[in-house]
Amino acid sequence: MAKDITKPDPSVVLDLLEAFRRSKTMFAAVSLGVFDTLGERAHPLDELADQLKLNPDALERLLDACVGLGLLARDNQLYRNTPASSAYLCTESPDRLTGYLNFSNQVGWNLWSHLEDAVREGTPRWKQAYGWDAPIFSSFFKDDWSKREFLMGMNGQGRISSPHVVSAFDLTRFRTLVDLGGATGHLAIAACRRYPTMKAILFDLPDAVPLAKEMVEASGIGDRIEVVPGDFFKDELPQADLFAVGRILQDWAEPQIVSLLGRIYDRLPSGGAILVAEKMLNADKSGPRWAQMQNLNMLTCTEGKERTLAEYEEILTRAGFSDVQGCVTPSPLDAILAVKA
Ligand SMILES: C[S@@+](CC[C@H](N)C(=O)[O-])C[C@H]1O[C@@H](n2cnc3c(N)ncnc32)[C@H](O)[C@@H]1O
Repeated sequence: MAKDITKPDPSVVLDLLEAFRRSKTMFAAVSLGVFDTLGERAHPLDELADQLKLNPDALERLLDACVGLGLLARDNQLYRNTPASSAYLCTESPDRLTGYLNFSNQVGWNLWSHLEDAVREGTPRWKQAYGWDAPIFSSFFKDDWSKREFLMGMNGQGRISSPHVVSAFDLTRFRTLVDLGGATGHLAIAACRRYPTMKAILFDLPDAVPLAKEMVEASGIGDRIEVVPGDFFKDELPQADLFAVGRILQDWAEPQIVSLLGRIYDRLPSGGAILVAEKMLNADKSGPRWAQMQNLNMLTCTEGKERTLAEYEEILTRAGFSDVQGCVTPSPLDAILAVKA
C-alpha cells in the first residue's frame, strides 16, 4: 500500500491521454450543429435529436459530455448554451471561433496525425496528409469554403487579441498603419478604434480581399480603412509610418522573413515602426503552453515557428530596426514594437 502511495502522480499523463477526446467532443458538437440549433432557447434531448437527425442515445452522451466540459448547461432535462458557447461556438455570433474550430477538426487534425514524421523531417505535412505540395496559403485557400473558414477563424481569435495588441504601446504618433496580411481587418479596425486620427490600409492576397472588404464595411469605421490587394513579397508596399504583421512571421522560413522585414524597413520613413503580433515564447522556451502548442502547429502546417523576444530582436535588428520592445498581453497574441531610427 505504502509503495503505491510513493508512485509519481499520474494525473498529468491521464489528463493528456484524455485531452484529445475533449477537443474532439467540442469539434463534433460544433460540426454537428448542436450550438447553432440550441441558439438562445433550451431544448429537450428528443427535440434536438429530431432536428439534427442524430441517434438520441449517442447525442445524449455528447450533450452530457459538453455539460461536463462547461460548453452546455442542463436544467430539468433541458439543454442550453452557456455564455461562452453562445459567443464563440455559434456561427451567427460576430465573435465566433467556429472557423478555426472547423479548420482544426477537418484540416489541422489530419496534419497533426503525422506529427511524428514532422518531427523526424522538420517539414509541414500537407503532402503527406493531402497529397498537395503547394505554397501554404494555396492550401488554406483551396476552395471558397476553406478560405472563408480559415479567415473567419483568424478573425475570431483576432477580435480577442487585437484590442490588446494595439494598446500594448502608445501608437498615437503614427498616422497611417498598413496591416500586411491583415485578413479580415480586425487589427486595423482595433487600431482605428483606439486611435481616432489613425488611417489604415489592409494589404492581403487578392483571394482574401472580398471578405476583408465585407468585414471592414461592417465595422462602422470603413471610411478610415482601405483594402488593397497584393503580395507582400513581390508588390510595392503601401506608404505608411507604421506596419503591422500579425501572425505573419510565424508562417515563413527565415529567408522570406528577412526579405519581408527588409522591404518594410526600406518603405518606412525614419521614425516609423513595425508592430509584430505573435505569441512570444518565454526566454527559456519553458512556456507559455499556448505558444509551445502553436510552435508545433506551425511545424505541421508552415515553414515557420514561434520565437522568444530575444529571437524577434535578433531578426528585427538584423533588418535594421532598433529599440525593440515586447509586451506580453493577457490575450492569445503579444505585441513587439521596433523602430526605424
Ligand atoms: C496566419 S494569417 C494572419 C492573418 C491576420 N494578420 C491575423 O492575425 O488574423 C496570414 C495572412 O497573410 C496573408 N498572406 C499570406 N501570404 C501573403 C502574401 N504573399 N502577401 C500578402 N498577404 C499574404 C494571408 O492571406 C492571411 O490573411
